[in-house]
Amino acid sequence: MTVKRRTLSGIKPTGVPHLGNYLGMIKPALALQATHEAFYFIADYHALTTVRDPKLMREQTYDLVAIFAALGMDFDAHTFFRQSDIPEVTELTWLLGCVTPFGLLERAHAFKDARTKGQDVEHGLVSYPVLMAADILIYDSHDVPVGRDQQQHLEMTRDIAQRFNHIFGETFILPEARIEEQVATIPGTDGRKMSKSYNNTLPLFSTEKELRKAVMRVVTDSKGVEDVKDPDTCNVFQIFRHFAPPEAQAQWAERYRSGGMGYGEIKQATFEAINAEIGPHRDAYFALRKDPERMEAILAHGAAKARRIAREVLNRARERCGYIRMNGAT
Ligand code: ADP
Ligand code: TRP
Repeated sequence: MTVKRRTLSGIKPTGVPHLGNYLGMIKPALALQATHEAFYFIADYHALTTVRDPKLMREQTYDLVAIFAALGMDFDAHTFFRQSDIPEVTELTWLLGCVTPFGLLERAHAFKDARTKGQDVEHGLVSYPVLMAADILIYDSHDVPVGRDQQQHLEMTRDIAQRFNHIFGETFILPEARIEEQVATIPGTDGRKMSKSYNNTLPLFSTEKELRKAVMRVVTDSKGVEDVKDPDTCNVFQIFRHFAPPEAQAQWAERYRSGGMGYGEIKQATFEAINAEIGPHRDAYFALRKDPERMEAILAHGAAKARRIAREVLNRARERCGYIRMNGAT
């Protein structure tokens, strides 16, 4: 029997999940269920660096539970959980933090950006990459599917694991980032990277009407119907191509290049293509989203499974440092 590689990824409950999150992280992560043993979690400890409203923390966490459930996460074959249900991860963060050079953390993009903007930097933001390393290493993860913006964090995770292994002996598996090149950066309605921070997102789950309205807002150049257009530089087409089959992409690209097509038409086709993929999951999403008890049951089931592994790996690291094993794990 071949042992499956373990894939792990996390997503923060920090806003309304959008199609950039879906294409960049959620969809590839769910697809890996076929070939990998998957561990996916809601990174609510990481979210605390910005989310300071307990109600929002809870609601945004539930949005993600309902999304993963509606889109086909298999909670029995795989493991889906909430970061803050696994206290072992904060303990490992301390062990790792003790071998993490401060200079490494000072080079992190998020830290540097905050410094440049003259913001007061909190310890949580500085140690964000150490918590993320603990998230990944504590499950003996092999592959980590993320968007391009997380690449530096993965490199830091490997650096930290290597230092720990060097000092205390082989303890952690070195994980690999899996970045989907074709979907590295999905543009938002204004053409910049689709991001909660830019207010330019297309929602993953909303009503059909809201989705259509959002697609119609995507900016284009001001060419008229008869003008020849360029699909490769058009924001609408960059979104369309992720939802349409190859033949439809080729046909519409041809219509751009031959003129006689208005942007309203491709926007309508884009809305329809997104809706064909997402629409069938909408009812399941909204039904579960209204049922906190069921969502908590899903999370409790996942936490129990995740903690078994987390305890085992944490104990391995504790022993290397000269501490006793805890929690009776074997
Ligand atoms: P946001 O930029 O909206 O705050 P996050 O930073 O919370 O999104 O990202 C969550 C996940 O979704 C990450 O794995 C990230 O790489 C991916 N992601 C976010 N925006 C995009 C995008 N526009 N294109 C591709 N992937 C994205
Ligand atoms: N930092 C990631 C983000 O902003 C979320 C995250 C936390 C994560 N821990 C992780 C992603 C571990 C992959 C693996 O999206």
